[in-house]
Amino acid sequence: MSFANASYIWKNGQLLPWSEATIHISAHALHYGTGVFEGIRCYKTDDGPAIFRLTDHSKRFLASAKMHHLTVPYSVEELDQACVETVAANGLESGYIRPISFFGSGSLSLFPGACPVETAVLAWTWGVYLGDDSLKNGIRATISSWAKFDTNALPTEAKACGQYLNSVLATHEARARGFEEALLLNSRGDFAEGAGENLFIVKNGTLHTNGLAGDSILQGITRDTVLTLARERDIPVVIRSLSRTDLFTADESFITGTAAEVVPLREVDGRVIGTGDRPVTRSIQDAYRAVVEGRDAHHRDWLTYVPKATDAARA
Ligand SMILES: Cc1ncc(COP(=O)(O)O)c(C=O)c1O
Repeated sequence: MSFANASYIWKNGQLLPWSEATIHISAHALHYGTGVFEGIRCYKTDDGPAIFRLTDHSKRFLASAKMHHLTVPYSVEELDQACVETVAANGLESGYIRPISFFGSGSLSLFPGACPVETAVLAWTWGVYLGDDSLKNGIRATISSWAKFDTNALPTEAKACGQYLNSVLATHEARARGFEEALLLNSRGDFAEGAGENLFIVKNGTLHTNGLAGDSILQGITRDTVLTLARERDIPVVIRSLSRTDLFTADESFITGTAAEVVPLREVDGRVIGTGDRPVTRSIQDAYRAVVEGRDAHHRDWLTYVPKATDAARA
């Protein structure tokens, strides 16, 4: 099955067998996308599985929920614990974790006041998101004809279920055109971000990424990690809006996201980016890998180690 090694799901405080963690067809979130979620990775380290920046993800989850009027009855600490328990219950060495909260069944009025807030955590083994080759050789991307929605239409800062229809449309289009990933422009015509990643370019040894008000991006946790690692390595960093010209004339470019990780852009709409030599991207990729695999002593505090599950927890 496509959800490898997924035997248990944490639902509303309890670990349930995968097949029993179901919802009703009248659930509000199914009809209107009224839910919020996170995407988190867990990595194999010498000291067992470790979840990367778990607390930052749990905090963003609750912030997304607040934006969409979902009152999640769990604290950051409880959500962290639910993720740890789910990874342990499934016996994962590494994988992907998906917390979700949504309005369940109660009414299909646009006002979901009568709907219970349901919370679940899934975890499974999920390999390299954009293909095994993507990290080493980079990917081919296309600029979507679908614009990224503006922050004043929907909060781009929130990871909300329905908001992802925009990314799904762009992804369909990219695949139909024969590309691995879509890049979306904002309504000003500058770059917003990838369908599920933030965008970086390298020009004359300086790292540039967008993220100013009006750029319409999700402030990615991987983006923040890359900025931190770059500053620690004395790579100059500039936050500014990015245009098509910036990308097409860049020496290097890469996209970042929890699922995709740090992926070079090899070509965008038929234009090869730079010369194919990617020293800055490579150094950031190496630094990122060392951090997530627990080989960078400075950043062990970004890792939450997962103890082995006891049978009692899964009962
Ligand atoms: C639209 C979008 N932008 C950016 C990102 C990158 O965010 P992060 O690095 O926190 O995974 C994601 C993935 O979560 C995303 O879906």
